[in-house]
Amino acid sequence: AHVVCEACIGCKRTDCVDVCPVDAFREGPNFLVIDPDECIDCAVCIPECPEAAIYAEEDVPEDQQEFIELNAELAREWPSITHRKPAPDDADEWRGKTGKIQFLKK
Ligand code: SF4
Ligand code: F3S
Repeated sequence: AHVVCEACIGCKRTDCVDVCPVDAFREGPNFLVIDPDECIDCAVCIPECPEAAIYAEEDVPEDQQEFIELNAELAREWPSITHRKPAPDDADEWRGKTGKIQFLKK
């Protein structure tokens, strides 16, 4: 499956959800995840993300491996999102920051 990683936290642009042919995205307070049971690995969401937050599972960076399980876990709890919506007001302030996982709201 494809995996949403750290760069999405706080930015949550939602450009990704409009292109997903199987509506695999799930929405939390400041982060999106992909349901691995729905994703068909079409990869069209990757270039849509302005934060470059989405990776194929085999390409997830070594220091972000925990996001693979996190996407699966949170996808079971969070509701579906199928249409783009405005990013958070402070999205630009989160751009490119590292160590954001501690600020992930569940
Ligand atoms: Fe949806 Fe394709 Fe992205 Fe999977 S890879 S989340 S199916 S757009
Ligand atoms: Fe997040 Fe990028 Fe989608 S910032 S909401 S993965 S477009």
